[in-house]
Amino acid sequence: MTSIALIVAAGKGIRTGLDTPKQYIEIAGKSVLRRSIEAFLAHPGIDNVCVVIGEKGSPHYNDAVSGLDLLPPVIGGATRQESVRNGLESLIDLAPEFVLIHDAARPFVSEALISRCLEKLATSDAVLPCLPMTDSLKSFDGERITGALNRDKIVAAQTPQCFAFNPILAAHRAFAGENMTDDTALADRAGIEVAMVTGETENFKITTVDDIDRARAMITRNLTDV
Ligand code: CTP
Ligand code: MG
Repeated sequence: MTSIALIVAAGKGIRTGLDTPKQYIEIAGKSVLRRSIEAFLAHPGIDNVCVVIGEKGSPHYNDAVSGLDLLPPVIGGATRQESVRNGLESLIDLAPEFVLIHDAARPFVSEALISRCLEKLATSDAVLPCLPMTDSLKSFDGERITGALNRDKIVAAQTPQCFAFNPILAAHRAFAGENMTDDTALADRAGIEVAMVTGETENFKITTVDDIDRARAMITRNLTDV
């Protein structure tokens, strides 16, 4: 049984407002991407890691992965969905049983979360790490609040989103023209039942510069803890 981690790192990180894409920003001397990759490389249940990147021969990428044993990088597309699809297509010859699709921008994915996902894959073709919502939720029409949503019926989705390889590849091919929010949305659309595991607050996605500060603070705190 082969399980491959597919890490998508072909985004531009527009919302940070920085010149360097966020996956290449260094957090305490190590890039966000390298942190994400190392989490999967270190897990005994993961056989290979493949990274989807923005451009060929990227010096950022070469620096970030120097010395790591990875599958060859794949060039992504204009949307996350296209990037994932390119990644999946590149893995066909390896015929993995499972693929764990992870945002490079979530560098704090833990060994325990990866284990929970792999365990759940034994009985489910699609696995989504989720967290309950803590804020109260409102619907909004762009100008004013139009109502309240039931928090008990809503969860926040994280990655790695994990799948049996053949069904998720088929779903990506079937819905290639549509822009869906994430891979489990595609799975759901293809009729694949999505199972849930508990996510982690530390596994947040770096989106803004505040998130970069938060990531730096987390590392500093952990360093002083030990
Ligand atoms: N991603 C990708 N290919 C794209 C767009 C996004 O591989 N065309 C990746 C990003 O590199 C990131 C993950 O998908 O690791 C989640 O996307 P997001 O947080 O939206 O990152 P960016 O698209 O880079 O950021 P922004 O939307 O602010 O530009
Ligand atoms: Mg984006």
